[in-house]
Amino acid sequence: MDLIAKTAAFIREKFASEGSGHDWAHIERVWHMARRLATHTPGADLQVTELAALLHDIADWKFHGGDYEAGPAAARAWLLSQGAAEEFIQRVETIIREVSFKGLGVATPVSSIEGALVQDADRLDAIGAIGVARAFAYGGHKGRLLHDPAIPPVTHADFASYQQNVSPTLNHFYEKLLYLHERLHTDAAREVAVGRQRYMEEFVAQFLAEWDGER
Ligand code: ADP
Ligand code: NI
Repeated sequence: MDLIAKTAAFIREKFASEGSGHDWAHIERVWHMARRLATHTPGADLQVTELAALLHDIADWKFHGGDYEAGPAAARAWLLSQGAAEEFIQRVETIIREVSFKGLGVATPVSSIEGALVQDADRLDAIGAIGVARAFAYGGHKGRLLHDPAIPPVTHADFASYQQNVSPTLNHFYEKLLYLHERLHTDAAREVAVGRQRYMEEFVAQFLAEWDGER
């Protein structure tokens, strides 16, 4: 088995019983989407893209007490165990370090084409119908309210305040999801985002109308 197939099997096993929307199916979608975006992006290293996509949520800070280095460290340990070269490991670590959203007021630049592809693929999976489902799965997992009109959304100016956020799930649309389409790096991802964005905006409008008993 090559390293990509082995990594896919390892992550699939590790995420077999995940219920917060960061499950193997999420990772598999991000992997396949990153690969698809790579085919439209000249110069992208497919192996780095695929491995970083497979490993991007290996130890997400949201589930590791806010430890932002847990992901890169876990990816490093796995790749070392597979005999990967140091330079290669560092490229994957950097992508994982850069991938996550850190608050609406915080820029999340990427330093490589492969990082752009993985970040775009991950963000595409946070919008559209699946994005809606994942947001409420995550909110339920954390015991959040669906919505509370008395609690306004917040524009998080730094990562620390974003990490401490406990807003109702509907606020998450205004704190992140509705703005992701403006922050994509590649044309291929922007193309996919159009329909997903339209669907998500329609969902929020319908939700609020039903909440107010209007529809
Ligand atoms: P990132 O780390 O960049 O946010 P992930 O792949 O870890 O990307 O996925 C984040 C997923 O978790 C998204 O689908 C998002 O909607 C959901 N999520 C994260 N924080 C919240 C929150 N506060 N409320 C609802 N959903 C959330
Ligand atoms: Ni992810």
